[in-house]
Amino acid sequence: MQSAPSKLILCGEHAVVYGQPALAVPLGDLRAYAEVSAGTPGSGLSFVAPDLGEAWDAHVKPEHPLSELALALLASFGITQADLVLRLHAEIPLASGMGSGAAIGTALVRALAAWFDQELPPAQIADLVYASERRFHGTPSGIDNTVVAHEQAIWYVRHLTPAAQGFTATIEPVVMNAPLHLVIGDTGVRSMTRLPVGAVREAWQADPPRYEAFFAAIGQVVHRVRTALSEGDQQQLGALFNENQALLQEIGVSSPELNHLVAAARQAGALGAKLSGAGWGGVMFALVTPDQRSTVTQALHKAGATRVIATTVASS
Ligand code: MEV
Repeated sequence: MQSAPSKLILCGEHAVVYGQPALAVPLGDLRAYAEVSAGTPGSGLSFVAPDLGEAWDAHVKPEHPLSELALALLASFGITQADLVLRLHAEIPLASGMGSGAAIGTALVRALAAWFDQELPPAQIADLVYASERRFHGTPSGIDNTVVAHEQAIWYVRHLTPAAQGFTATIEPVVMNAPLHLVIGDTGVRSMTRLPVGAVREAWQADPPRYEAFFAAIGQVVHRVRTALSEGDQQQLGALFNENQALLQEIGVSSPELNHLVAAARQAGALGAKLSGAGWGGVMFALVTPDQRSTVTQALHKAGATRVIATTVASS
């Protein structure tokens, strides 16, 4: 059995697609799992994924992103025929901004690599999973697969190249001088990443200067968040998360449910709160002090969150 963490984007989502920096952390206690066992001879690869509501054979659905991922990996090992059962399980809410797709893909790659006694560096796993994520999300920035595969807090900048194909990214570890106490609230509204990402792209194409100003403003907030993290300045961090949320609302990726949970967390005393991920549904998080954790948790439940997860990101 191998696993991979979920992820939370602290700040910079959407603008990161346009070359601005973003900060993301892995959440080690909420994971996806993959288990490999021998299948019957001649069966090929069989997937069993109850959380996705799916079970399929790779030769029947070779175009399934996870079939493609597994087959590409085996081909890179020089294996053309393998009879295996791949069981996938995710504790992570699906289509909610917490990187369930990247986590399931990474767990699958780690499990197959372990089965065949192969060692893959995180960057190679991230690249393989990115290729599969493209099937779900169009043109993702690459931040999700990167933070999940590296399993550490990262500063991420995608370098825009004139050709849409291929890109490089700056990936740096983040210095955090104090732990972050977060309370995550799930709206229960499932949202495919590519929908709000596509809407932002259309809005940007309709009015590039206006949207580029929003992206640049988000980028400035992310720079200030990095400083506040390294100084362990929780008050400043909370204020910056609120600022980022206001900009995300302006670019049109929040939702009434997200706004409602964000407002409830702030009223309950949180230092700051914002949506996380692509928006239009999925999750928000609140930055709290340890003393505020239970009050904010209760407030989010009362405001209609379908799931509330309190977690701590260790200093680094
Ligand atoms: C999705 O987790 C984050 C977005 O910025 C999209 C991306 O980076 O590919 C909304």
